[in-house]
Amino acid sequence: MKARIYLSRSTSPLDVTTLRALADRSDERNRSASITGFLTHRNGVFTQYIEGPQTALDSLWSRLESDPRHTIERSADLVLSQRRFSEWGMHLLDPLWFPSGAPLDVLEEVLGVAGTPNLDDAALNAVTSVVDRVSNAQ
Ligand SMILES: Cc1cc2nc3c(=O)[nH]c(=O)nc-3n(C[C@H](O)[C@H](O)[C@H](O)COP(=O)(O)O)c2cc1C
Repeated sequence: MKARIYLSRSTSPLDVTTLRALADRSDERNRSASITGFLTHRNGVFTQYIEGPQTALDSLWSRLESDPRHTIERSADLVLSQRRFSEWGMHLLDPLWFPSGAPLDVLEEVLGVAGTPNLDDAALNAVTSVVDRVSNAQ
């Protein structure tokens, strides 16, 4: 079981309806590929967490990389002993859900600094704690 978290920048402004449609379609596709995770969009930046079998993730990743709606800037891989998000195929998370936006700031900062693909221990802890918080809320 693998997981990847990444930041990308949207290439054009997105309205809520378009974003919801993207998340709904992703949710449907991900469930059939055993991929789970979450997506948020704030200030033109997507943060997405995906987890699942390696081959399914690789296939999604190549579609994500060639999707003209965004440009991937940073990504990091995590090795999981078990899936964290059993309920969400792809859950669109309102950035307002994060009190004062802090965990999302941490995530953006950590990924921005840590780059790709390896995370040092501090960065890994920060990413893991955000993922833990979100998964506890699912
Ligand atoms: C920010 C972002 C996140 C996305 N997340 C997913 C996802 O989790 N699962 C998925 O199947 N497609 C996702 N997509 C869409 C894929 O890039 C791709 O367009 C889609 O999988 C193609 O399938 P379709 O033509 O059947 O919609 C995402 C696109 C963007 C811009």
